[in-house]
Order: sequence, then C-alpha cells, then structure tokens
Amino acid sequence: MAICSLLQLVIALSTFISSTRTCDAFSIQEASVSDFQIAFKKNLLTSRELVEFYLGEIRELNPNLKGVIEVNPDALLEAEKADKERQANSSASFPHLHGIPVLLKDLIATKDKLNTTAGSFALLGSVVPRDAAVVLKLRQAGAVILGKASLSEWANFRSLSAPSGWSSRGGQGKNPYVLSADPCGSSSGSAISVAANMVAISLGTETDGSILCPASFNAVVGIKPTVGLTSRSGVIPISPRQDTVGPICRSVADAVYVLETIAGYDSNDANATKVASKYIPSGGYTQFLRINGLVGKRLGIVRNPFFSFINDSEVSLHFEQHFKTLRQRGAILVDDLEVPNISVILNSTLSGEATALLAEFKLSINAYLEDLVISPVRSLADIIAFNQNFSDLEMLDELGQVIFLAAEATNGIGMDETKAILSLEKLSRDGLEKLMRDHKLDAVVTPSPFCAPVLAIGGYPGITVPAAYDSNGVPRGICFGGLKGSEPKLIEIAYGFEQATKIRKPPTFLL
Ligand SMILES: *[C@@H]1O[C@H](CO)[C@@H](O)[C@H](O)[C@H]1NC(C)=O
Ligand SMILES: *[C@@H]1O[C@H](CO)[C@@H](O)[C@H](O)[C@H]1NC(C)=O
Ligand SMILES: *[C@@H]1O[C@H](CO)[C@@H](O)[C@H](O)[C@H]1NC(C)=O
Ligand SMILES: *[C@@H]1O[C@H](CO)[C@@H](O)[C@H](O)[C@H]1NC(C)=O
Ligand SMILES: *[C@@H]1O[C@H](CO)[C@@H](O)[C@H](O)[C@H]1NC(C)=O
Ligand SMILES: *[C@@H]1O[C@H](CO)[C@@H](O)[C@H](O)[C@H]1NC(C)=O
Ligand SMILES: *[C@@H]1O[C@H](CO)[C@@H](O)[C@H](O)[C@H]1NC(C)=O
Repeated sequence: MAICSLLQLVIALSTFISSTRTCDAFSIQEASVSDFQIAFKKNLLTSRELVEFYLGEIRELNPNLKGVIEVNPDALLEAEKADKERQANSSASFPHLHGIPVLLKDLIATKDKLNTTAGSFALLGSVVPRDAAVVLKLRQAGAVILGKASLSEWANFRSLSAPSGWSSRGGQGKNPYVLSADPCGSSSGSAISVAANMVAISLGTETDGSILCPASFNAVVGIKPTVGLTSRSGVIPISPRQDTVGPICRSVADAVYVLETIAGYDSNDANATKVASKYIPSGGYTQFLRINGLVGKRLGIVRNPFFSFINDSEVSLHFEQHFKTLRQRGAILVDDLEVPNISVILNSTLSGEATALLAEFKLSINAYLEDLVISPVRSLADIIAFNQNFSDLEMLDELGQVIFLAAEATNGIGMDETKAILSLEKLSRDGLEKLMRDHKLDAVVTPSPFCAPVLAIGGYPGITVPAAYDSNGVPRGICFGGLKGSEPKLIEIAYGFEQATKIRKPPTFLL
C-alpha cells in the first residue's frame, strides 16, 4: 500500500471521521482489504473505527443513494470482538476478512437482529432458521456484518415494470456516478454501497445478470461464481439451476478474498456444492492475483451482437484501446467471434429460460418460505395476496407482479419445463462450450453485462471489471466469462486487466 494512502487514512480518522468528504480522490474511501489489514496490524486503525466511519458515511449518503436497507445494531460489538482477538494475539495471522465490514444483499439470511426480506414488506417480521451458509463462513473468518443492501425487489422477479434498484422497503437506489442514471440490479445496493464507500465489501446474488450488471454500472468489480461454488442455502431463491452468490467489491483482489472465504461445500446445498467444490484449487484463489496473469491467455472477443449494444463512441474507443493493452500484456486475442444460436439465447422465451425459471421459482420460494421459523407469508400465493392488499401503491398493483402470477400458474417440472431445461443445456453445449473448445479459449470477452444470459443458462462464471465511463459519466464494465470452474483463469485475466488499466474512480455524484 502507498504511504500517502495510509497517511490519508490516519488524518481522516484523527481529524474527524465525518470530515473525510473533503479528502481528495486518494483517500481512506478507496482503501482495499489489504490496506485495512496493514493498518490494523500497525495499530493505525481498529475495526471499530472502520465501522464507525462507514456508519457515518451511511448516515450522510444513504438518505440519497438508498443502497442500504438496514444497518446491524451489533456491528460495533462485532468489530470490538475482532479488535480484541487481534489485541490478544498480535503474532497470529488472521483471515483476510477479519474485522472487515461487509454488506449483504437483502436476499441473504442472517440469524441476528437484521431482517431478511428481498426488499418486500411481505417478509418483514419473518424469522430465518439459521445464517445463510455464506454468512456463516464470513463470520468464521471474523468479518463484521454491517447490514443489508437494497436491491430490485424480489431480485427483479416479480414485475416487468419496476425500475431496477427499486424495492418497497428500500426505495429507489441511486447510481452514485450519475444520480439520474440506472444503477442496474438486482444487486443494486451492494454495488452502490461499495462504489460510494459506505462499506468495504459486499455480497450480491445472480440468476441472470444481477451481479454483473450493477457492478458494471457502478464502477466496481463483480464475480459471478460457477453455480454451486458458493452455497445458496439461506438465500431467497429464484432457481437452484442458475442462482449463485458472489462478491461485489472495488477491486479484483478484494473480490477474490471474499470468494475464497465463501466458496465451498455446504450440507444444506449438498448436491450443487459437492460437484462445484471440486473446482476449488488447493491453496485457494488468491494465488491467481498475478500481475502477469494475462501472459499466454487466449481471449475470444465476442463482437456480434454485443459490441453493437455499446451505443457510445467514447466507450467503443476505450474497448479498442483495452484490446491493445490486453495484447501488450501478453494475451492472444481471437477477434470477431459469435456464440452459436445467440439470438435464441438472448430471447428467454425462445431459449426456454423463462419457462424453466417460472416453475423453479415457485418450487424453491415455497420451500424457502416453509422453512422459516416465523413468517407472515408461507407461499407464493400468500405473497401475491399480500401485494394485492397494497394495490393503492403504484408499484404494488397487480401489473407489478406479472412474473409472480405467471410463476404461480406453473405446476412443477413437467414436460414443458423438462424440454426447456434440455434446450438450455443444448444451447450451452452448442454455444459457449463449442466456441471455447473450437478456438481453445481461456475466456470470452464482451462489454458488461451482455455476457450475462450466456453465462446464466449454463451456470458458468464471469467477472466484470470497470472499463470506461460513457459520455454522461456512467460507468461501464468489461466481462470475462468462461467454462465451469474456470475462476482461476478468470481471476488472472481480470486482475491483469485491472492492474494494466485502473479505470475505477470514486463516484462523481452528478445530477
Ligand atoms: C497466537 O497465534 C500463534 C500463531 O497463529 C499461535 O501459535 C499461538 O498459539 C497463539 N496464541 C494464543 C495465546 O492464542
Ligand atoms: C427488523 O424489522 C423490524 C420490524 O418488524 C424492526 O423493528 C427492526 O428494527 C428491523 N431490524 C433492523 C436491524 O433494522
Ligand atoms: C440431490 O441428488 C440426489 C441424487 O441425484 C437426488 O435424489 C436429490 O433429490 C437431490 N436433492 C436436491 C435437493 O436436489
Ligand atoms: C442507446 O442510445 C439511445 C439514444 O441515445 C438510448 O435511448 C438508449 O437507451 C441507449 N441504449 C443503451 C443500451 O445504452
Ligand atoms: C443451434 O445451431 C445449430 C447450428 O449451428 C442448430 O443445428 C441447432 O438446431 C440450433 N439450436 C437451436 C436451439 O436453435
Ligand atoms: C422472443 O421470441 C418470441 C417467440 O418467438 C417472440 O414472440 C418475441 O417477440 C421475441 N422477443 C424478442 C425481444 O425478440
Ligand atoms: C389484507 O388486508 C386485510 C384487511 O386489512 C387483512 O385482513 C388481510 O389479512 C390482508 N391479507 C393479506 C394476505 O395480507
């Protein structure tokens, strides 16, 4: 870590916590997990001070940005516990996330004073049976649960008309770069909050784009892990076939520390995590944060149709410049590729994705609700009835839950659903898998978030890294996607790209 950054940190903390808004771009706000760990070790910072700093930032910024739904009343206590553990044994080495505050998308259950509601009043007052498995892993690593992040309500699976980043409990989340711009979703609050430095690190979830999109629109890094690499138990579901939990952070390194902490087998999500845990390399993921990670990597530039979606000449120019940089750093670019059947994959009705998700959602949300210790709603039908009671509110009218109604009309995994799932598997085999094999690729490259549907339907991983700002100042990301279990390669590529370009800047708060 650079000394001046540490000095900023010290000055910021000693002068007065809430005056740090006046710090220049290189300040405590942009510090990384390893910066914090060095500061802890040198007694320049305590976890408690860090939590106090973020609580102050949330008080100041959140009324406008609405990235946070709830703060944990026990966050300071948890921080003090971490501080005591470090004081008790200064020679011990602690996990990367020890004492680090983390914000959780409001789909991720915590068995503490926080509510877990998917942003909906329907689940307020529900009591979860246990921490989500990923939360347990965070706690075991000594991380501090700072609170719950806002989101597109029900992970954007209730309505076709609700704006992204909106939920009835959280209000409208704002993009901290351009407040009038789309923050994207559904893990909007996770991305907004780390982007605006209201927290160090966060977790989001993705079924189709919900990590990759908000991360790219808020100039942060998102990792969408291979499905099953991170447990989904205790996470309000859409589809066990596509859902995955992953980090949203300001840097690739921070995201990798989080991934390493939360990945692994869980008996409450046994089938998927057993298969995917075989992908975890011995020694974990941090060894792939290699400065020369791009050397020898074969990257497929998937032009058609994704680069025509960019729609901003400045951003297009940036991407061409990035390709030069990738080559200069030793990558081999295979240009002008297209994923076979891409027009089918991008149409969720044609691909079968919509058919499969609707039935999977009803089954899995009903199972989640039945497992709650206490809950005002016990089924999808109950949620629909609850929403109908609020029909005076614009967002909660019947049109506002067309997806719920379509899901409620399904009846398990029947012939149509089986056919749809087989179609998705075939599209993946004939699509991304074939493209990667034919061209011996390590990763495909697209502008974010357009890689999302291709990765979603096959359970494949992807990483988005800040890549540009459009002519209005709205951030854009670059997506590196690959086959199942290819996280080590994707991390090498993403880290190599990030270190070569360093596009992330703190937010501008333009109107
Ligand atoms: C302190 O940490 C070191 C290294 O991890 C360990 O060997 C030692 O037993 C610890 N001491 C205490 C008092 O916990
Ligand atoms: C959880 O929701 C209840 C209302 O049911 C509220 O009183 C409580 O403050 C909420 N918890 C937090 C940590 O905000
Ligand atoms: C896990 O796999 C077994 C064997 O294939 C299957 O019987 C079981 O239903 C699966 N469990 C879940 C929760 O999917
Ligand atoms: C592309 O540009 C048009 C016109 O400026 C705009 O309406 C549209 O939202 C843009 N699309 C994207 C994906 O940015
Ligand atoms: C995908 O494309 C191949 C030819 O490239 C074709 O044989 C196959 O039927 C297509 N699949 C779908 C679902 O459209
Ligand atoms: C997707 O496919 C369906 C079925 O063929 C079609 O009705 C619909 O217009 C398509 N959607 C788009 C956005 O092309
Ligand atoms: C709807 O509102 C009525 C009147 O307040 C109440 O009795 C009923 O329990 C509510 N139903 C649901 C599903 O919330």
